[in-house]
Amino acid sequence: MQTLRQFQEDFHSYLLENQFKKEPKELYEPVNYILGLGGKRLRPVLVLLSHALFDDQFEQSLPAALSVEIFHNFTLLHDDIMDAAPLRRGEPTVHMKYNVNTGILSGDVMMIAAYDFLSKVENETKIPALYKTFNKVAIEVCEGQQYDMNFETRNDVTIPEYLTMIELKTSVLLAGAMQLGAIIADASVLDTEHIYQFGRHIGLAFQIQDDILDTYGNPEKFGKKVGGDIVQNKKTYLMLKALELADETQKKELDSLMTTEIENEMLKVSAVKNIFDDLNVKSFAEAIKEEYLEKAFEHLAAISVPKKKKKLLTDLANDLMMREQ
Ligand code: IPE
Ligand code: IPE
Ligand code: MG
Ligand code: MG
Ligand code: MG
Repeated sequence: MQTLRQFQEDFHSYLLENQFKKEPKELYEPVNYILGLGGKRLRPVLVLLSHALFDDQFEQSLPAALSVEIFHNFTLLHDDIMDAAPLRRGEPTVHMKYNVNTGILSGDVMMIAAYDFLSKVENETKIPALYKTFNKVAIEVCEGQQYDMNFETRNDVTIPEYLTMIELKTSVLLAGAMQLGAIIADASVLDTEHIYQFGRHIGLAFQIQDDILDTYGNPEKFGKKVGGDIVQNKKTYLMLKALELADETQKKELDSLMTTEIENEMLKVSAVKNIFDDLNVKSFAEAIKEEYLEKAFEHLAAISVPKKKKKLLTDLANDLMMREQ
């Protein structure tokens, strides 16, 4: 049985074999730059682990795994423009290192390459089903991104609205990654639904953890600018819970911090963070994250394969909840 590291290494070798070595370099160099910065490679590993749960020949899912990772990195290029983010994986974001137009066009070509790789899956009979899943997810990610931006200028966002937003922008891609692996492995309809739901719940917990790290992460490890969500007035779980629990004075202060132009970003971040701390919102976020993790495990338990085959997914999910980057 493969270890998690072996799955990661198999994916990494496949990625290296499929580098973008074409002209013009202004288009492709940023693609290799962002893909070369690494990251956790979570989504491609989920494709492979999902396949391996149902069938030994997980190598058949490598093109789908690469497709998903390229798609994810495309979304990051555009997301970093939308979020005015300076750092990604500890290095300058593409639009900062090159320029915004590069971020847009290199992102575009990645999205198309992602589609292209999906057609390289050997078993051609599976391809229509793979595209059906992929297209649905890709559209939902755009919808989620739009809600995320809409919410920046709203002060009446509800927690259910937030949960729908993160489901769309983040969790469906993790769920879809698992579904692709299950489709290629020829899993039953019921098992495919359970693995999708496992990924979906992990994805919700994963985005809540991302929100926590954006405010409370260690800048040395996080790889992104800590406090970025606060600067951008993102309606994270932390912010919504704070608005819900705040007394009159705290609510006024939060509203004013989010609506007035504040020159000094550091001051804004620390003022908001002080209110978060007073209201202990981090522990509420941790609690809901745990609830999603448990729901994810219920779906994993319902899948009709021996428990020992599920160990890697269980370990990975637990590790993700403790991650610092
Ligand atoms: C970042 O995803 C975008 C979110 C959905 C939070 P990851 O945290 O998986 O980023 P990398 O690929 O490991 O850098
Ligand atoms: C990520 O949301 C969603 C997508 C990239 C589609 P975030 O904006 O929170 O992701 P990070 O924190 O920049 O990685
Ligand atoms: Mg964003
Ligand atoms: Mg972002
Ligand atoms: Mg984030």
